[in-house]
Amino acid sequence: MTPPRHASKPVDRQTTHCADASGSAFARDLVAGLSATPRQISPKYFYDTAGSEIFERICELPEYYPTRTEMGLLMAHADEIAALAGPRAEIVEFGAGALQKIRLLLDAFDAPAGYLPIDISGEHLNAAAAELRREYPQLAIQPVTADYTQRLLLPAPAAGAGRRVGFFPGSTIGNFTPSEALRFLEVAAQVLRGGALLIGADLVKDPATLHAAYNDAQGVTAAFNLNLLARANRELGADFDLDGFAHHAFYNVPAKRIEMHLVSRRDQEVHLAGQNFTLAEGDSIHTENSHKFTLAGLRELAAQAGFTAGPAWTDPDGLFSLHWLQAPAA
Ligand code: AVI
Repeated sequence: MTPPRHASKPVDRQTTHCADASGSAFARDLVAGLSATPRQISPKYFYDTAGSEIFERICELPEYYPTRTEMGLLMAHADEIAALAGPRAEIVEFGAGALQKIRLLLDAFDAPAGYLPIDISGEHLNAAAAELRREYPQLAIQPVTADYTQRLLLPAPAAGAGRRVGFFPGSTIGNFTPSEALRFLEVAAQVLRGGALLIGADLVKDPATLHAAYNDAQGVTAAFNLNLLARANRELGADFDLDGFAHHAFYNVPAKRIEMHLVSRRDQEVHLAGQNFTLAEGDSIHTENSHKFTLAGLRELAAQAGFTAGPAWTDPDGLFSLHWLQAPAA
């Protein structure tokens, strides 16, 4: 495959025929990202309905070890985690996608007092909350629609509730930039004062295993990456030709991260929000970083945000880690 290039390109302006869509955050960020050098777009835009469905298929792939390895760790250590949480804990989940994983905690915990899922998508949040309400009719479920990477206000703890335990599984922290990751942990330390955070972090490992996990044989990860362009066509009236872009994922060893890119297969022009973007063959749009951690590195980052590291659990192959981080005193 032609290696990605990041050449700057001329942009000229036309009148827009898609006024509403061009005013959305996605439109603004995509226009800015296509105008930047290197070209880039935040991975948060992967997760429309189609993208979330493709991501669920990724989690089932033989090559994508993080989901099943983290589930294995949660199952193996559920009792120990429940003991650390104590009775009547309130679980605060950052993101609301991990229903299977949250069930595991709810079943293991001693009379959990509440569940507060936080997600920027109210629709997603309410669907997850409704499903859990049917299964746990006694549990106080309070969905919070908010961007948890920003300052966050949570409802006051229920009377008689125990510790607040944050839950951030899946190594989603790895999709943040290092400064976003620190900022997220600072926000979490603040809202979890007196409690703790249970966080999943994917580990640094041999590049071949990582490469396979993001270049699966069935092409599901490629479809996930390309869905970003399909989403821009659907929502913003852009005219990306999906056959004109290739999925490119590789492990950047010094930066300890998988990088995903969409690489232009030929010279082409794309129209979006009244602007033309020219891409030459080999030009790349950087769509995701997925940082990998060492146990010490994750603990060090957590300490910078004010957490005290408790136990960490890993699988026998050292693929993935789960960390119990004590938040500062209330
Ligand atoms: C959600 N996140 C932790 C996934 C990851 O592994 O970084 C997203 C993903 N991208 C490609 N495959 C999965």
